[in-house]
Amino acid sequence: MTDGSCSALLLFGATGDLARRMLLPSLYALHEDDLIRSGLRIVGTARSEIDDEGFRVMAKAALDEFLPPDRKDDAKLKSFLQRLSYQALDASTIDGFDDLAKKVGDTTKGMSIFLSTAPFLFEPTIEGLRHSGLAHEKVRIGLEKPLGEDLDSSAVINDAVGSAFSEDRIFRIDHYLGKETVQNLMALRFANMMFEPLWNAHGIDHVQITISETVGLEGRKGFYDDTGALRDMVQNHMLQLVALTAMEPPAEFDATSIRDEKVKVLRALRPVKAEEMVRGQYGAGAVKGASVASYADDLGEPSGTETFVALRAHIDNWRWQGVPFYLRTGKRMAERRSEIVIQFKEVPHNIFAKRGAKLRANRLVIRLQPEEYVRLQVMAKEPSLDREGILLREVPLDLSLTQAFAKARRRIAYERLLLDLIEGEQTLFVRRDEVEAQWRWVDAIRKVWREEDIDTKSYAAGTWGPNAGIALTERDGRSWND
Ligand code: BG6
Repeated sequence: MTDGSCSALLLFGATGDLARRMLLPSLYALHEDDLIRSGLRIVGTARSEIDDEGFRVMAKAALDEFLPPDRKDDAKLKSFLQRLSYQALDASTIDGFDDLAKKVGDTTKGMSIFLSTAPFLFEPTIEGLRHSGLAHEKVRIGLEKPLGEDLDSSAVINDAVGSAFSEDRIFRIDHYLGKETVQNLMALRFANMMFEPLWNAHGIDHVQITISETVGLEGRKGFYDDTGALRDMVQNHMLQLVALTAMEPPAEFDATSIRDEKVKVLRALRPVKAEEMVRGQYGAGAVKGASVASYADDLGEPSGTETFVALRAHIDNWRWQGVPFYLRTGKRMAERRSEIVIQFKEVPHNIFAKRGAKLRANRLVIRLQPEEYVRLQVMAKEPSLDREGILLREVPLDLSLTQAFAKARRRIAYERLLLDLIEGEQTLFVRRDEVEAQWRWVDAIRKVWREEDIDTKSYAAGTWGPNAGIALTERDGRSWND
């Protein structure tokens, strides 16, 4: 699918952390596999006053550090570095943009821009691009978060971008959508007959979504403390997982059909009540056997920011009436894990009851990372002559994606997203109406926090969060899949 492929890629923030860890390694991987056309030039820009050679040296160092060993091929590395050039730019003023345009050269065959920048630079950057002729109709733009801090500020950014780029040329990135297992959720639901008939309030008791991390602040003090777990993880990644889990079957696998269905779910999210939300902040503790400091110590001062959040969400439509979606995410938790758990209802009548057998309702676990599997817990009879009653036990029907597709290369999310951006394929990018529905719901939660003074509860680092987070499910007679 290379029809829409462009001839230049312009990377803002080219010397930053995201570029070094993710973007350059991803672009190299696409280059190594001959997935990007040979004529595609990659132009980096940032404030640092370096030249082409300086950028190549920086890129080489980043690739040495972040590429897996089996990816390193000297000849390919050399040819990749040849694609790179660099233009220093202070994006806060319009002055440097003409030089940037000169450096980028001919864009009549199309260009993709990847914009990963501090929020206050969004507007001047768009203005500079427009002024220097770098926003014409063959140019598309990828936007990395944070895109605002609430609905109003995100609307300002979206308006600014929208004044220069039409929606079909705007690619809002949520890197969770680039993850193979997240896309697999759609395959599981819509390429199999067996799940969909039960995928509703008749068949499902509740849904749980967990994104837990063991890392703490990771050198992002200022950003994280201003943002907190709700806006860092729930507003985007978590709600995209909710939308993909809950949406109606789209008619086609294309950008419009899928995003139309997702946005309906996001708009149907019911406002969360005070008793359905828990904020937490990690205290000192131990993660994977090593002691770690508290959030306040990591930060260097006391703070009211949450590093953990748990919510009980509801989707007000026919399919999901009465089915809670329990969501939780946090830093410095017991393990790194992203998963969606579908808890089915119990069978209507237990025919084994008089023979002593207890039943457990089926549970489907979709593990997104670090392992990748789909596991369905089903009841099975334990082999025996049953003289003391029938013994039934829960056993897993396992689909390990890692094993089933052992030969397929595992790609990081940005490989997929950069390739789609270069080729102009929008399905895995977030549309403006989705982002706004996400913010509307999250802003309402923050309003309740403010009005009802909902403070953070402390949890020891290396645990599953504050007790109140556990109580959120327990008091409904349910439990987290720990
Ligand atoms: C980012 C958040 O969007 O996602 C980080 O800003 C978080 O705080 C990261 O660590 C998690 O991504 P992944 O792919 O490691 O689950």
